[in-house]
Amino acid sequence: MSDEYILEIENLIKDFPGVRALDKVNLKVRKGEIHSICGENGAGKSTLMSVISGVYPKGSYEGKVFFKGRETHYHSVKDSEKEGLAIIHQELALSPYLSIYENIFLGHMKTRLGIINWGKYIRESKQYLTRVGLNEDPATIVSKLGVGKQQLVEIARALSKQVELLILDEPTSSLNDDESAKLLELILEFKRQGITSVMISHKLNEVLLVADTVTIIRDGKSISAWDVKRDTLTEEIIIKDMVGRDLTHRFPDRIPVLGDTVMEVRNWTVYHPEYHTIKVVDTVSFYLRKGEILAFCGPMGAGRTELMMSIYGKSYGSQSEGEVFINGKKTEIKSTKDAINAGLGYVSEDRKNLGLILIQDIKTNISSSSLRKISKFGVVNSQREIEEAEKYREDLRIKTPSVNQLTRNLSGGNQQKVVVSRMLMADPDIFIVDEPTRGIDVGTKSEIYNILNDLARRGKSVIMISSELPEALGMADRIYVMNKGKIKGMLMHNEATQEKIMRMALVG
Ligand SMILES: Nc1ncnc2c1ncn2[C@@H]1O[C@H](COP(=O)(O)OP(=O)(O)OP(=O)(O)O)[C@@H](O)[C@H]1O
Ligand SMILES: [Mg+2]
Repeated sequence: MSDEYILEIENLIKDFPGVRALDKVNLKVRKGEIHSICGENGAGKSTLMSVISGVYPKGSYEGKVFFKGRETHYHSVKDSEKEGLAIIHQELALSPYLSIYENIFLGHMKTRLGIINWGKYIRESKQYLTRVGLNEDPATIVSKLGVGKQQLVEIARALSKQVELLILDEPTSSLNDDESAKLLELILEFKRQGITSVMISHKLNEVLLVADTVTIIRDGKSISAWDVKRDTLTEEIIIKDMVGRDLTHRFPDRIPVLGDTVMEVRNWTVYHPEYHTIKVVDTVSFYLRKGEILAFCGPMGAGRTELMMSIYGKSYGSQSEGEVFINGKKTEIKSTKDAINAGLGYVSEDRKNLGLILIQDIKTNISSSSLRKISKFGVVNSQREIEEAEKYREDLRIKTPSVNQLTRNLSGGNQQKVVVSRMLMADPDIFIVDEPTRGIDVGTKSEIYNILNDLARRGKSVIMISSELPEALGMADRIYVMNKGKIKGMLMHNEATQEKIMRMALVG
């Protein structure tokens, strides 16, 4: 083992029932570098990190892992933490009802004669919070913080354990641009302090921005390792190794055929759920035509999700005012059920709370919004249920040995595909999709774009909330730009540019 590498992995094999998740993976991480892992959904990235950090104990995999030159024999995450390894999972793992400092020191507080010196821990946590750039009071309850800040608390927790190797699994997937930039800057700062990072990400631009080395994994195999500077690595090269082929059209062409207005919203206003005088959506009016793909852009907190959720009848906000017309008829939508009856469907942005029932199998989750379609006299036709689920498994390339698998066993991106499948099967007239490609790899993204285009061609209408401007620009016939709860302007497909959208959001 050479001194140059902090982490070395040799021929790692990890099996789950019916799936070989890792198939002789090799990986070498240099001391002090930022090392990115790229690969499609289900390639094995999270599993690999779980092996390294002891989530999967020694004996449950084959092959060797060396950390700081010594072969590891971890039985749990606690063992790896003691040696200076910390992992921040794809789904955050803080205790929401505890304070920041309790979360930071949870599980590794020391007592003296059975007494915990709280004051000391509060002071120390302050110091770690400063290092990650958080000004919050350590006594703040974690659930009051946004995702971005929660992530920083997790990193502060890692620092408190004297981390030498920090593993981050898709750290920026639910952060806005500002928060992402800050997080990447923090990882770079850690590098200057000698901390090594391994970062999994689907955002290839971010990977190229910070990584020194990129390892690419496909179908559980390590495909290549690139030195970013020396090899003048590009997104195209990464994609090619990820998917095993060239990907030419990231945004497939579509000539829109637009029909009548199917939905019109007039003067829609929503008040903040706690502060009843604050408007999170402020007299918004817009329309949507048959066969149209509409995008809503704007910074985080612009009110896009609140707007759509309240129209959809989810009880966001204390009250909403305004009118909704479906096919020219004024429609009262008081609940999600009303929305479905009015022909609306919604894919939520919330990754943790996708509305999936993780302990149920894939087919049940896909069909759960369409039971009427596959039942007769109230009895589900299980053959049809399987056939339908199989169709979506193929179309969206859901990586699983069988649609009878528990949804819990799917990788993060593949769970997201199940949510999209469920809405496709329900087949509403108006699709509202909130960050539909979050956590989804580049290859499958274009498949989802194809599907949305197909829907539009079939005369369905799509409303898309997207934080990725290239995605909105590539897909939408029209773009509404929002900020601070208001619509600041509208752009047609052929006139929209990133600069115009950003300027419009700021000045209107
Ligand atoms: N507990 C489990 N039981 C069965 N199969 C599993 C389990 N955990 C993971 N898998 C399977 O192992 C494979 C790799 O999953 P993993 O979560 O490592 O993918 P990933 O590369 O992190 O993908 P994503 O980008 O979607 O997060 C997938 O096929 C997944 O379904
Ligand atoms: Mg993963």
